[in-house]
Formats: sequence, structure tokens, C-alpha cells
Amino acid sequence: MNLAQPSPAVPVIRPRRLRRSAAMRRLVAETRLHPAELVLPVFVREGITEPHPISSMPGVVQHTLDGLVDEARRCVDAGLGGIMIFGVPLTKDATGSGADDPAGILNVATSRVVEAVGHDIVVMTDLCLDEFTDHGHCGVLAADGTVDNDETLERYASMAVAQARAGSHALGTSGMMDGQVGYVREALDAEGFIDTAIVAYAAKYTSGLYGPFREAVQSSLVGDRATYQQDPANATESLRELELDIAEGADIVMVKPAQPHLDIVAAAAAMSHVPVAAYQISGEYSQIEAAAANGWIDRDRVMMESLLNIKRAGASIILTYYALEAAARL
Ligand code: PBG
Repeated sequence: MNLAQPSPAVPVIRPRRLRRSAAMRRLVAETRLHPAELVLPVFVREGITEPHPISSMPGVVQHTLDGLVDEARRCVDAGLGGIMIFGVPLTKDATGSGADDPAGILNVATSRVVEAVGHDIVVMTDLCLDEFTDHGHCGVLAADGTVDNDETLERYASMAVAQARAGSHALGTSGMMDGQVGYVREALDAEGFIDTAIVAYAAKYTSGLYGPFREAVQSSLVGDRATYQQDPANATESLRELELDIAEGADIVMVKPAQPHLDIVAAAAAMSHVPVAAYQISGEYSQIEAAAANGWIDRDRVMMESLLNIKRAGASIILTYYALEAAARL
């Protein structure tokens, strides 16, 4: 058919009309990002007096305590939805005893941030042991060297109560132990922390993309987390994990990494009646930064595009190291 001269009986349908101008594209856009749905993950390191750069995550630093409080205030000013705090302790041991110590870096930092920002943003804390263990696993080890699920639950319960006491509004159960959400919920309720929310990392895949995070928290992990994090080959398993976490009382469920698993984000959004979050993890960030540093991609454009894609797939909350920068562009 000659499109220049369509026959009157077969008019050319022209979707391009809706792409003609920026105003038209804005009018018909189905997905919009808003600062309130962005959460900034942050690292706070014990015993430093200056911020410490993370070489594999250009632009991201390990904060001092004071620097973290300033960053939290910037998040409030930017209208972000929240902040997720990760602690980097000076010393680590087999059971991760710094994690539930009220004087441990994460708990001290949480109190400082909550004192400064109150409920102006949602203050979240990572509820996992890997930042605190000398072997780098997300739990405690049995005699045979495997991660002991049920012993780890005891540690998580104690950590959860310590974080709630420090004032955390929402606990990110990211260790992928079976039963962790229910166990932590029960421990919180027993101590009267009925209003402390649980953000369950429900579908968390094992991934090479966590590499830069290992530098960020100075993890000493040798090997991988394949016996507790999910196999990237599987999708159905995610639905099971989501169902379990929701049944155990998760207030928000999360999928991570985000962009490699947009099918899972979409599936979670379809089946979940609690909000669905997605975490654009360290390696997703670093991939964009590395390509941009080489001049191969337009950094700001890919940054915004990546977040839009995650939202379009069905996430209503996005954890991203770009949160402040992206919010400034919205
Ligand atoms: C567990 C935890 C990890 C991340 C968030 N929580 C590390 C892991 O599972 O290996 C990764 C976040 C990122 O890579 O940006 N404490």
C-alpha cells in the first residue's frame, strides 16, 4: 500500500499523533515518577570523621554520623518517601553482635536520624546480619558451615527489637531466612512495637550485581548466598515467597534486584494487596555509572528511564541510589 495516498476505505491509523510534541506526550503519559515514592539507601560507617567514597559506586559514600543526619535532612527537603540505613561497623564477629547492640553503629545512627527528621520521612533500617558478621553471611553458621535458619531467626528478632527501640519506622527484612517475617513480627508485637512496619524483601534473587554493595559495607563474604537467596532461573518461587511474606504479616513486599526482574515486579503487583517496592541495587547503579563514564550512554537520561521502567512494571516504591538526584529532576 502507498501510505502517501491511502485509499479512503483504509485510513492510516497514526499513533504518532500522540508523540508529536512534548506537551502531547506529557498529556498521554501513563507513568509518572514522584519524589514521595523514592527511597534513598545510605551507608553509615563507624569511626570515620570524613565521608569515605565507595570506588565502585561513584558519587555514593560511607557517611559519618553527622553526615548521615545532613543527608537525611536533604531527603526531607527533596520530598523523598524515605531513607534506608545500612551500618558499617568497625568490628565484626561470628554472630554479628554489633547488630542488636544499642551502641552499635546502625542503632546509634537510626536514633540520630529519627531525632533529626521525626516522621517527615519514613526511616527504614536493614534487618540483616551480613554487615555485622566476620564471615559475611546473612545469618549465623551451624557447625558444618551452613547458615542455620532457625538460630538466625533468634538473632533477627533481637535485632528487630533493637532497631525498633532506636526508633526505626520500618524494618527491611533482607536476609531471606524462612519464617523471618512472622518471627520478627511476633518479637516486635511482644515488646509493644505494634506500629513498626516490616518491609519484606520477599523475592530477593542471588546476583552478581550485589558486588559494589560488598565494597560499600566492607563485607568479607567468600562464596555466595545461593542457599538462601533465590535462583534467577525461577519465577514461580517468587510467588510462593511473596505469598508467605504477606501471610506472615509483611506491610510492604519488595523485589530485588529491580530491572533484571521486572517480570517479577509485575507479577507481585498483580497478586499483592500490600504495596510493592523494588530495589535498584548497587550493581544496577554502577552499570549505568560505568557506561556513562565511558561516554557510552547519557547518564541522566538512563537514570530517569530506568526508574520509569521499574514504576511502569508495577512498583509503587523504588529504592535507588539516584533518589535525591532523580527527585531534583521531577
Ligand atoms: C543484605 C542486603 C544486601 C543488599 C541490601 N540488603 C546485600 C546482599 O544481599 O548481598 C544489597 C543492596 C545493593 O546491592 O545495593 N544486608
